[in-house]
Amino acid sequence: MILALETSCDDTCAAVVTEGGEIRSNVIASQGLLHARYGGVVPEIASRHHLELMDAVTADALERAGACLDDVDRVAVTTGPGLIGALLVGVSSAKALAASRRVPLTPVDHLHGHVTASMLRTATARTRPSRVLAHGQPVEPPYLSLVASGGHTFLARVDEPSTYTVLGQTLDDAAGEAFDKGARLLGLGYPGGPELDRLAREGNPDAFEFPRSAPGELDFSFSGLKTSLLYRLRDDPDADRADLAASYQRAIVDALVSRTRAALEREGLERLAIGGGVAANSELRVAVVALGVPVWVPPIELCTDNAAMIAGAARFLEPLPYPDYLTLDAAARTGG
Ligand code: KG4
Ligand code: ZN
Repeated sequence: MILALETSCDDTCAAVVTEGGEIRSNVIASQGLLHARYGGVVPEIASRHHLELMDAVTADALERAGACLDDVDRVAVTTGPGLIGALLVGVSSAKALAASRRVPLTPVDHLHGHVTASMLRTATARTRPSRVLAHGQPVEPPYLSLVASGGHTFLARVDEPSTYTVLGQTLDDAAGEAFDKGARLLGLGYPGGPELDRLAREGNPDAFEFPRSAPGELDFSFSGLKTSLLYRLRDDPDADRADLAASYQRAIVDALVSRTRAALEREGLERLAIGGGVAANSELRVAVVALGVPVWVPPIELCTDNAAMIAGAARFLEPLPYPDYLTLDAAARTGG
């Protein structure tokens, strides 16, 4: 069994996954509310809380999986990209856990985790309507992966699970950032994505025109959108908040879905998986199903940051033997 740790941002996560990709446990201790009063993640606070929570979260993951450390064949950990102090807590803990049993350790790229989450199998497979692949049914490569989170937004082609090729990405803000910044302008709480999603359900998505910038065939740009909302609110402070939320959300979802459609066509891919926190968005989840290809729409706990996806990616990577990983470091950026 693989024990994985993930601490790249503000969630302290540990999971136990079999080599076959079955999730035995997936524990996520969210620090969201701690950071809410600051309106964003405070790196130093995140690191300290990871430190406080890591042992308990790891013990919980093992217990829920009905396992103990002796059952762990290898450890996996996110080494980047992310907040450096936060990453270091996970990396140090993973090294200590692996070294205590002399088992191998696999360093994992956080984004590779998001991309391959769709190849995991949940213990409780649920059947889904029509084209939506059942949660328990993994996606087989080749497939297109759309990852949209608070820090990243990109489309990737996956031909074999050990790697992925980025086809297009955001040139400025991530989609989740656009949600969070839009929510802040609308006076909603933090994190803004889920709040804006909720308010948008009460509004008319055609009430306002927001720009759909097209910086490149498969690239994204969201910074103009937020400015447009700012001006709209300045010009008309009494504009209906729900209509604004619905129209703003429609612009983000349209941008994501139109590039996804273009990528499927250009690459000749016939399967799609979505991931990252924005994949929890109710409108996006419906819109991707309408694309007409089999699509893996993840359960919410596999959209947002989690350690099961890190174990999932580790299955396809070569682990470092003991003691080679004792010098392993975290990197805030991929390739950095
Ligand atoms: O993947 P994630 O948990 O963390 C990062 O790696 O960034 O993504 C968090 C992002 C936040 O920007 C949050 O507002 C957004 O995902 N998000 C949503 C929804 N749920 C979370 N955005 C839109 N609609 C949602 N329902
Ligand atoms: Zn993430």
